[in-house]
Amino acid sequence: MTSAETPLVEMRHISLSFGGIRAVDDVSLDLHPGEVVGLLGHNGAGKSTLIKILSGAYAKDEGEILINGKPVSIDNPRDAKALGIETIYQTLALADNVDAAANLFLGREITTRWGTLDDGAMEAACRQVMGRLNPNFKRFSDPVKSLSGGQRQSVAIARALYFNARILVMDEPTAALGPQETAQVADLVKHLKTQGIGIFMISHDIHDVFDLSDRVVVMKNGQVVGRAPVERVTKDEVLGMIILGKCPGGAEPGPGAIPAEELPTEGVPDL
Ligand SMILES: Nc1ncnc2c1ncn2[C@@H]1O[C@H](COP(=O)(O)OP(=O)(O)OP(=O)(O)O)[C@@H](O)[C@H]1O
Ligand SMILES: [Mg+2]
Repeated sequence: MTSAETPLVEMRHISLSFGGIRAVDDVSLDLHPGEVVGLLGHNGAGKSTLIKILSGAYAKDEGEILINGKPVSIDNPRDAKALGIETIYQTLALADNVDAAANLFLGREITTRWGTLDDGAMEAACRQVMGRLNPNFKRFSDPVKSLSGGQRQSVAIARALYFNARILVMDEPTAALGPQETAQVADLVKHLKTQGIGIFMISHDIHDVFDLSDRVVVMKNGQVVGRAPVERVTKDEVLGMIILGKCPGGAEPGPGAIPAEELPTEGVPDL
């Protein structure tokens, strides 16, 4: 296998239960360089739990994770970051009262040889990474609480990229954004793809991620219903996967797909 074909991430047969609930049940998932995989499913489907296993927030009960073809153990967030995995949670986890540069280096500050904060170096680095990501961004001295949602999102992404993320996990990236800011995030994502970064985009709303995704994977009740390149399925078909667990012809069914004979036939719109 050449390196171009080696997936960035392979999660194989991952399971995790909370008490009696199998939040993630035998899920296999992969991600390739420069690819966006939309991970979709209703509230409680298991999406966040799955990605928290990848980002080291939860320990899996079963299964295996490979990064660049090598089995790894991810026991905490530090392990994940060392493997180039950065997660942007819906809350963005920004410090509201300080500026973009301070947020970029939160907890990983650059210091001078006298042990004081090297604000000049941090601002220069911030201008450089933001210049690549979002050239229109000018508000370097403003606290991030005064920035727009899209600008805040770009600060969170800049932080991930500055620390060499190869694998980016975005949980509900555009849920709280207006149309213009959503377009800004879309531009960012396209830029990251050209850098070979792989992105998992998590959402319970298909409209948020369909147009940006190369492939979609749908989860329901902790299991994969199916997976498909976006050009092989329609939005309506993906909605049918999310709501009913019905896997359309263009998708590869997973363990959570409901067999055709068990699907309700009455009172359901033809999806
Ligand atoms: N820390 C926890 N302790 C107990 N149960 C949990 C915990 N985290 C998640 N669960 C349960 O696991 C299941 C999957 O939840 P999860 O948060 O992964 O879903 P999700 O697909 O991310 O949903 P949403 O779209 O609402 O974010 C749910 O039944 C949830 O109640
Ligand atoms: Mg979630």
